[in-house]
Amino acid sequence: MFNTQNLKKLDISELRSQRWYAPDTIRAFAHRQRTQQAGLNREEFMGKPVIGIINTWSELSPCHSHLRERAEAVKRAVWAAGGYPVELPALSVGEVLVKPTTMLYRNFLAMETEELLRQHPIDGAVLLGGCDKSTPAMLMGAVSMDIPMLFCPAGPMSSGKWRGQTVGAGTHTKKYWDQLRLGAITQHDWIELEGSMTRSIGTCNTMGTASTMTSIADAIGFMLPGASSIPAADSRHVQMAAKCGETIVDMVWHDHKPSKWLKRENFINGIVAYMAVGGSTNAAIHMIAMANRAKIKITLDDMEAIARKVPVLANLFPSGDQLMEEFFFAGGLMAQMKKLEQFLHKDVVGVTNTTLGSWIENAHCYDDNVIRDLDNPVVPLSQGCALSVLKGNLCPNGAVMKSSAAKPELRKHKGKAVVFDDHQSLSDNIDSPELDITKDSVLILRNAGPVGAPGMPEWGNLPIPKKLLQQGVNDMVRITDARMSGTHYGTCILHVAPESAVGGPLALVKTGDIIELDIEAGSLNMLVSDEELADRREHLKPTHRTFDRSYAALYQQHVTQADEGCDFDFLQAGSDVPEPPIH
Ligand code: FES
Ligand code: MG
Repeated sequence: MFNTQNLKKLDISELRSQRWYAPDTIRAFAHRQRTQQAGLNREEFMGKPVIGIINTWSELSPCHSHLRERAEAVKRAVWAAGGYPVELPALSVGEVLVKPTTMLYRNFLAMETEELLRQHPIDGAVLLGGCDKSTPAMLMGAVSMDIPMLFCPAGPMSSGKWRGQTVGAGTHTKKYWDQLRLGAITQHDWIELEGSMTRSIGTCNTMGTASTMTSIADAIGFMLPGASSIPAADSRHVQMAAKCGETIVDMVWHDHKPSKWLKRENFINGIVAYMAVGGSTNAAIHMIAMANRAKIKITLDDMEAIARKVPVLANLFPSGDQLMEEFFFAGGLMAQMKKLEQFLHKDVVGVTNTTLGSWIENAHCYDDNVIRDLDNPVVPLSQGCALSVLKGNLCPNGAVMKSSAAKPELRKHKGKAVVFDDHQSLSDNIDSPELDITKDSVLILRNAGPVGAPGMPEWGNLPIPKKLLQQGVNDMVRITDARMSGTHYGTCILHVAPESAVGGPLALVKTGDIIELDIEAGSLNMLVSDEELADRREHLKPTHRTFDRSYAALYQQHVTQADEGCDFDFLQAGSDVPEPPIH
């Protein structure tokens, strides 16, 4: 599994954990004594690499409910490989139950991962996560810490059916919610769906943020090649977890840490995979933040340039009509990557110290409908791609959208703005019969960005007003500084930067202003004169809530904007993480 070629094997004295365990001092005595207090014999841990298993298991994180068992599989392989495994629980950012939004806590988990690894005698880490933000969070922290590490993804849940229909997590919740509002399904149906849509352990089975981020991390090289596609409930998933345990021990002995293998080209490969799987817009933020931790600059423009060349090939909801299990059976991510060879850097290596070229060498596609060829994409490039970047006087630093999941006739659009200052007023008024809105209006929600909300919730799939739904309208142009769930679809323009709460021009727009969108040209503007905008700015009063204590206050004070990755300014690339003094 791990390629030791050209790598020097460390001596035991060179392992980081030896600073804790080896010296003949009263402190080291205490470290050895207290480890034995846990019931271990001296020879069970002395002279062995210590492997930290960072586990985001929680009873309130259903996507991760199997991660305790997976940690056991990792441990059994670490022991067998001559290591000493230790499991460290970390914050679980389960997407659905955490409020106000898991994005608020991505940086918290990133900090926790970094500090857990820093403060303990750990030589290498296996990161157990997968639900949306947990992947970028743990990788950001572990990359900053820069010790050998690899990611063991939770794996997607099994495919779902309801009354013979394929149903995907997130995507169909939204679809059936609209049907319920219209009276097309009954309350009884709705309750039945509630109990049957997400039928197994694992992350969302659509190409939402979870599978987007694990696919990207896989393509970058943070995993055992192809691991991201293995369904959570499959026995091969347990086997993969065990292989992670075996591999990390080898990685530690050969000091195979991110700074030795992680390059800009790895991230480019990640972006290619992102576009081909039709990934979530959320990834645009996480890619920038993860690369930054590796002291590598990736911009929205880098992503957009690749998006314009790489069409959506994975036929998965919300862009297509299949689920992750079918993707796995069709050959998984490596089969997908094989079809993208011309765009990839094949000579870079990942955690296994093997080249991307070797990962895809024996990959094979078993279903060309699920994993499409370049000449038969799910959505032709002329009709949209996974990530379109827009700029203009409404979003000088950029806004993004998944144009492949938008209505083709809205690619070029002009309409009157209908503006909501916050999410509450939107929810309270969107279904009002008095709301002055047509299918050509442009729905706007502000104060929902990183600082404004705070935490940039997934409110961006703004609901279509009921009276338009009743007219058969199922998509319209929507604009916000919030994010959108990767499982959702529609002409939703997101991540407007700078956001309204920090004085971005989104704060200046008024109901009735004309908004002009041109996806092909990459532009988004409000047709309001500069003089008028300057006048509005003079009278602008911030309307978002400011926190003066708690984590929310820290977040508001230090979070960067969406185009910069929404990391904390003090955690972005800077000096290396200092080793703690041991006295
Ligand atoms: Fe956990 Fe979708 S809610 S992956
Ligand atoms: Mg999600």
